[in-house]
Amino acid sequence: MLVPHSPTTTTCHRRSSALAQQIPHLYSFKYLHKRQPHAVNGRQTPPAVVDNQQQDSWQDSNAADVLQGCTAAPAAEAAPQQQQIKEQFDWFKAWYPVAVLEDLDPALPCQVRLLGMDLAVWWDRTAGQWRAFQDRCPHRLAPLSEGRIDDASGHLYCNYHGWTFEGSGACSGIPQLPQGQAINSRKACVASYPTAAREGLLWVWPDASAAAAAESAAESAWPGLAPELEQRGAAAHSSRHGWYFRDLPTPWLAVKENADNDASHDTVLHHGAGFSNRQYAKPLAMQLQEMTPTGYTVSEASGQFTDTIRFPCGARRDYGVSAGVAYIVPTGVGTTRQYHAFLTPQPAKRTASNSSGRPVVPPRTLKGRLQALLRAVRPVWAWHMFSHLLVDADLAMQRSVDINRSRDDRVYMPAAADAGPAAYMRWLKEYGSGGPPVAKLASPYMGADPAQPRSRQQLLDRFDSHTQQCKACRTAYQRLQVARQVAAVVALLAGGAAVAAAALLASGVVGSSSSSGGVLGRGVAVVLGLWAAGGLAGGLWAAFGRILQSFVFVDYDKHHPSKM
Ligand code: FES
Ligand SMILES: [Fe+2]
Repeated sequence: MLVPHSPTTTTCHRRSSALAQQIPHLYSFKYLHKRQPHAVNGRQTPPAVVDNQQQDSWQDSNAADVLQGCTAAPAAEAAPQQQQIKEQFDWFKAWYPVAVLEDLDPALPCQVRLLGMDLAVWWDRTAGQWRAFQDRCPHRLAPLSEGRIDDASGHLYCNYHGWTFEGSGACSGIPQLPQGQAINSRKACVASYPTAAREGLLWVWPDASAAAAAESAAESAWPGLAPELEQRGAAAHSSRHGWYFRDLPTPWLAVKENADNDASHDTVLHHGAGFSNRQYAKPLAMQLQEMTPTGYTVSEASGQFTDTIRFPCGARRDYGVSAGVAYIVPTGVGTTRQYHAFLTPQPAKRTASNSSGRPVVPPRTLKGRLQALLRAVRPVWAWHMFSHLLVDADLAMQRSVDINRSRDDRVYMPAAADAGPAAYMRWLKEYGSGGPPVAKLASPYMGADPAQPRSRQQLLDRFDSHTQQCKACRTAYQRLQVARQVAAVVALLAGGAAVAAAALLASGVVGSSSSSGGVLGRGVAVVLGLWAAGGLAGGLWAAFGRILQSFVFVDYDKHHPSKM
């Protein structure tokens, strides 16, 4: 298991100022000010004044209905003391995944986004660890993510005027000054945030204060929910397909509610994806088990599955022998990054059913066996296509739900199956200050108008949001492009040759002599063979085109399995 990394020498204490400089409008936004927790006797409390009385009333009443009336939750949990001072979650003193390690290039800095901040991620070969800097050179504010790794020192090199920075964020060189002059100034530093490489992901602690190194190193601060991926033999899990991620143009509050808490949508919205089937929709006796300042647990009463929610971004659903883990990361105003992985021991143990009544193992039919075989041999990019299918449907729903909620936020949740969303709303209100500051800004939850609806292509884009950034999909896309070009050339050559051969046969140049019977027969066979080869190549060209399109954009229309 790798341990958290943190700056070791000079640390620039710039968390708040860094955020303010990058997104100054956030600090003047009315909802952020209204929702900021108030410090009382050194502790943070919920604000005394709310800005949307109607919203708070429906959250309270619905959460109480579902948690108390439908699921017989513990009395202490079902009747929260609204005036009680509760410890508030600090969204800036927490770990967030920012990238899949496999997709990072140690030779090339890159930009990631977290909580409205742009970060430059780069490999510090001197220290042997990934670094996350504020993506802003202190000299003239150029993005350090557009820089390079200095060949001689291994430090991060700003490509604008050549300043270099070591892993701590301290400036190590200014080409325009004599060596050593002025580079020790605090003003020449760049904020360096603690990082950790765990569970196959790069994590960042978005606080560069003096206390960050110690606070982030505490194991109690670790929010990871996929310890299997840190153990030897992790490849024995189906997570060998790796983490799936996607940048979503939808607010964190809505994505988190859907992906991590809404158990009952799986069978309906994701009908046709894998073994999900709307006919398995059924009552789910969900119960809130516990709620703490860092999360909560909701389980299905008969023990079919348990949801563990760990803030700032984690959720794990345990089915017994298998599990699903998701991290929902607030990246900016109205934007979110979703990671998920399915953990299934291999070979899969057989159980009767999972949370939604769906069979865990494929049915003993030819189709079921073929599906199981395909799952076992399919490449990573094909697994990511399956995840796209799930996320496309979620995106289409979340976007519209968000817009509808901005107009009228009353909801009706009479079933115990909605205990997850109810617990989520309650935790945000009691412990989470309403959500991460940057996420609240874009959410109708806070009464803000959502941005204008995007085009379907923008909303459901797969290329920029995933393919370009995923090594497996990017490689597959490039190879398929080449394969399609080869298929086109073969189709044209074979087709052209078939036409030419047929013309020769028709003109009598071939097969006109007395002994031409055998030659004529072979000529016809050659023409037919060329036509067949051309047709096959043309078919592959068309098929590759359809697969390539699935790396770019597929509409959530009548052809999506959940609408059939
Ligand atoms: S802006 Fe980076 S060196 Fe000038
Ligand atoms: Fe991918």
